[in-house]
Amino acid sequence: MVKAMKSSLERFIASHPGSGVLTERAFKVSRGLHTDAIFTLPPYVYITRAKGSRKWDVDGNEYIDYVMGFGALLLGHAHPAMVAAVKEQIEKGTHYGAENELEIEWAELICRLIPAAEKVEFVLSGTEANMTIASLARAFTGRGKILKFAEQYFGWAGDLLPGIAPPYDRPFAGQIPPVSDDAVSGGTVVIPCNDEAAMEKALAKGDIAALFIEGGGANCGRIGQPPELVYTARRLTHKYGTLLVIDEVISGFRWSPGGYQAALGVTPDLTPLAKLNGGGMPGGAAVCGRADVMALLHLKPGDAEWNRHRHVVHRGTWNGNPVTAAAAVAVLNIAARGEVQKHAESMAERLVGGVNREIEKRGIEACAHNSTSVVHIFIGKCRKCDRSICLDAAKSMPPELAHVLNRHLLLNGVSLHRGVMGLVSAAHTAGDIDQTIEAFGAAFDGMLAEGIIIRA
Ligand SMILES: Cc1ncc(COP(=O)(O)O)c(C=O)c1O
Repeated sequence: MVKAMKSSLERFIASHPGSGVLTERAFKVSRGLHTDAIFTLPPYVYITRAKGSRKWDVDGNEYIDYVMGFGALLLGHAHPAMVAAVKEQIEKGTHYGAENELEIEWAELICRLIPAAEKVEFVLSGTEANMTIASLARAFTGRGKILKFAEQYFGWAGDLLPGIAPPYDRPFAGQIPPVSDDAVSGGTVVIPCNDEAAMEKALAKGDIAALFIEGGGANCGRIGQPPELVYTARRLTHKYGTLLVIDEVISGFRWSPGGYQAALGVTPDLTPLAKLNGGGMPGGAAVCGRADVMALLHLKPGDAEWNRHRHVVHRGTWNGNPVTAAAAVAVLNIAARGEVQKHAESMAERLVGGVNREIEKRGIEACAHNSTSVVHIFIGKCRKCDRSICLDAAKSMPPELAHVLNRHLLLNGVSLHRGVMGLVSAAHTAGDIDQTIEAFGAAFDGMLAEGIIIRA
């Protein structure tokens, strides 16, 4: 008698019993206690330890990790320099409720590396950094509107959120709706991804406080961004009196030691930093930019009118925390040398080449491409991808497909961010990459066998 082949879900449940129990326990008190659980299907994988390019779950399964702290870990997990710095600082106290020298060293590194950074202020997250920037831009220009391209992501708060997924003119998940281009009040104007003419038309109205652009393009290059668009954005924002914001939450220190802006040679007025900026510790975000704009964050002793009505409020219990500052200084000093970015990018290219070979061998409609050390996987029809930059803003991959690819990869020892993105680190070796390429081959075979994908 021929035994029926077990489905990937059955195999996954069988090989992750401990994670299954923890998922059920978590659901009793939360939806999974995990910021990114919305992008994966239960049972979630519960991790107990991570080192270098690897992480291990409660059931003893080992993974080559490409989530890498959602991009916060360019050096890999638990890098010795970062661990030593954190250990040393934690012994000395975790919160002084006062200034500390490490935060100056941290800010000095940012000012040395990031072209836009004449001045720096610390906040907790990328979302908070962009909220602060939106307030700064409005206060500086006296205008109400924010302009952004569809699909680009700047955080999950209020007026940063419109336009992150189609239909772009409807509120996102019960939150603030975008405003139309003719609206007179404050709000967010969403224009089509990479549409230069729409950008000029919107800016020319003279009521936009800031144009936000994501470093590397929407979701760090999932939809690429022609550099010419950014050069034009710089020229037009100058012309129409709008502040240019380049969001380097992912791309900062990763694209190059000076981020996406240094790689392109474009200096924006303001830049949020997060992820890598905290050296792998939480709460390591920052706002940096032009001194005259950043001056709005400062109180002026004796100037009651300014302090009560004009300056932009910036507070936070954990800003510039000394433990995070210690990790950040250790990691940014390594990132400043530029070697880790080059290694990670060459590993990303090796991965993309190998995955595309596995795709071609099987005749599947899919592709992999990379923007520096960020790898993107797409299953489906894409019309504008030359495998170095993908400009197909209309491509869409059903989330179920990403879930199943993720499950097959996990079964083969690889952990990908949301099943569509791989953040390659300096800890990944050629051996890791070749093992990952094999895992992709096995995952594609598994998906073909289950009839989830078909040959083109
Ligand atoms: C480009 C970009 N901006 C802003 C954010 C928000 O950062 P955080 O998750 O720290 O709030 C993210 C998060 O992934 C991001 O990728």
